Amino acid sequence: MSLWQTIRQAIAPSQAAVVSVPADACFWRVDMHSHLIPGVDDGVSSPEESLACMQKLADWGIEKIITTPHVSRDWYPNRSDTLRAAQVDLQAIATDNGLALQVEVAAEYMLDEFFPDLVANDDLLTFGAERYVLVELGWAAAPRQVDELLFRMRAKGYSPILAHPERYAYLYDDTTLLTTLHENGCLFQLNWMSVAGRYGERAQQHARQLLKKEWVDFIGSDMHRPHDLKMMESLFTSADYELLKKQPLRNESLR
Ligand SMILES: [Fe+2]
Repeated sequence: MSLWQTIRQAIAPSQAAVVSVPADACFWRVDMHSHLIPGVDDGVSSPEESLACMQKLADWGIEKIITTPHVSRDWYPNRSDTLRAAQVDLQAIATDNGLALQVEVAAEYMLDEFFPDLVANDDLLTFGAERYVLVELGWAAAPRQVDELLFRMRAKGYSPILAHPERYAYLYDDTTLLTTLHENGCLFQLNWMSVAGRYGERAQQHARQLLKKEWVDFIGSDMHRPHDLKMMESLFTSADYELLKKQPLRNESLR
């Protein structure tokens, strides 16, 4: 090989870098789980980072983003009114930069001991006509009587969606709780990056099990920063992407 050929090969973009993503790759059109409001949680830290994330989602076919900052009393004590106010700024970042994206704000609620008060006071940021509420469980253990709490939410007219059921390690060996929740009408949101292996092998395996059972009601990016984009892109060329097409996804109903 000549010196010139060697240099050309060294500077050529890798095969992975030239894979082009079709403009309709995100056929579900609405991303309903992300952390794109700068500075309110462990998500993006600047408007520039928000823009980089939104730009890519729009390139991949997302038309609407319902971003969901964390709400938990101990770690991220965000309030509904301040999060609602931030919607205007995030929409402006998208619109002023020429993105055809509609932006809404909801929240990802930790089911901590304070959450029942938010339910009792009807102080929840919902989305969609079904009044969906995105909730997450603690990482160490599920709250006691989680199924009863979710039942109470439904009785008040809310539709709870459990964020990333594939990521809770304590549900790996005993799937009784997940089965009970599913049978009682709790909806499941799969993390896009779980499928790609972002959270380890077991989360990936459990993501695949949910896909095989066709228990995935929503797909969400749960993206926190532009760094996540590369991992997200790998979904489009994986075998699991085909399984995703078989799910009873409700994302598009949020358009
Ligand atoms: Fe999240």
